[in-house]
Amino acid sequence: MKFRILGKTNLKVSEIGFGCMALGNEAYGSITKSQAIKAIQRALELGCNFFDTADNYGKGQSEKILAEALGKERKNVIIATKCGRDFYCSEKRKRNFTPEYIRFALEKSRERLKLDTIPLFQLHGPEVHVIQDGGVFEGMEEMVEKGLIRYYGISVNNCEEALLAMNSSQENNYNLSTIQVIYNILDKTPVEKVFPLAQANNIGIIVREPLCRGFLTGKYSSNSDFSKNAVQKLLKFCNLGEILKNVEQIKNILETSDSQMLAQLSLKFILANNSVSTVIPGIKNLGQTSTDLVVSDMPNLLEGTIKKLEEIPNLRKRHT
Ligand SMILES: NC(=O)c1ccc[n+]([C@@H]2O[C@H](COP(=O)([O-])OP(=O)(O)OC[C@H]3O[C@@H](n4cnc5c(N)ncnc54)[C@H](OP(=O)(O)O)[C@@H]3O)[C@@H](O)[C@H]2O)c1
Repeated sequence: MKFRILGKTNLKVSEIGFGCMALGNEAYGSITKSQAIKAIQRALELGCNFFDTADNYGKGQSEKILAEALGKERKNVIIATKCGRDFYCSEKRKRNFTPEYIRFALEKSRERLKLDTIPLFQLHGPEVHVIQDGGVFEGMEEMVEKGLIRYYGISVNNCEEALLAMNSSQENNYNLSTIQVIYNILDKTPVEKVFPLAQANNIGIIVREPLCRGFLTGKYSSNSDFSKNAVQKLLKFCNLGEILKNVEQIKNILETSDSQMLAQLSLKFILANNSVSTVIPGIKNLGQTSTDLVVSDMPNLLEGTIKKLEEIPNLRKRHT
């Protein structure tokens, strides 16, 4: 496993991290606790030291399972969790970035993760007005001063939010350390819009949804049943026919239809960009761990292949 520096934190993070959204999360296709624990422990053996979770994944279950699987190692690795989705209240998908709520959520995450200090605490998709207001960053600064969190970052839903957060941090001397963005062969928008400013400000880039929620493994077709897992959520934004057409082009460029190889090459494509600090595929079992974590040590893609993949058009988002 190779390591990269996570922006201004100077932490050395494994090039491939572990996306923990499926852990204990019914909405993401059920995986058993024992499957999840085996997958995490295998990831550790393969050199992974970066684990991305959130308090609301499985209503706290993802954090709990992660802590249990890591055992004492949880103090030696970098756990990045998130806050701001109030799953404690009855209202579904309620966002809450008030200082009181964030402090409450932090305490709960520290308990579940059994950590005094959270290595990386991320704002989980705050609304534009929350980013603009800046109060939420001041709250994070206080938590750093108190030793409750070591660094903080933000996970965003689009490039505009990433730019807003970085500019706000720069103008107000906040120590925003990381941005979590979607970046994959089917959505390369952050390369031009976000990465240059992130590099200039020494902000670490955490790449999420690197396999476009599994589509880049080529294993889905128009006959696939998306009714029970999170892939369906993606379809709210994108046109299935368009995704499948682009995936066929990718298979031709990479000269394979093998889903494991496609997963690996798709992750390797992301690592070809120096602005990226770590890539966090969502992993659900031991097999996926073994396939995805070894990508760091695989040979780089040829320049010509990268160029062809860069020419694959970005997916159109329905709402933008
Ligand atoms: N707002 C946010 O902050 C936010 C939002 C989304 C995700 N995230 C983070 O980013 C992580 C990754 O995102 P994601 O899980 O949505 O998308 P992803 O990594 O693009 O796709 C994950 C899916 O890819 C498939 N997969 C992974 N490795 C595979 C392999 N070797 N072979 C075949 N299939 C493989 C699995 O599909 P199957 O289900 O078919 O097994 C898995 O569910 C999450 O775990 C989470 O940590 C954060």
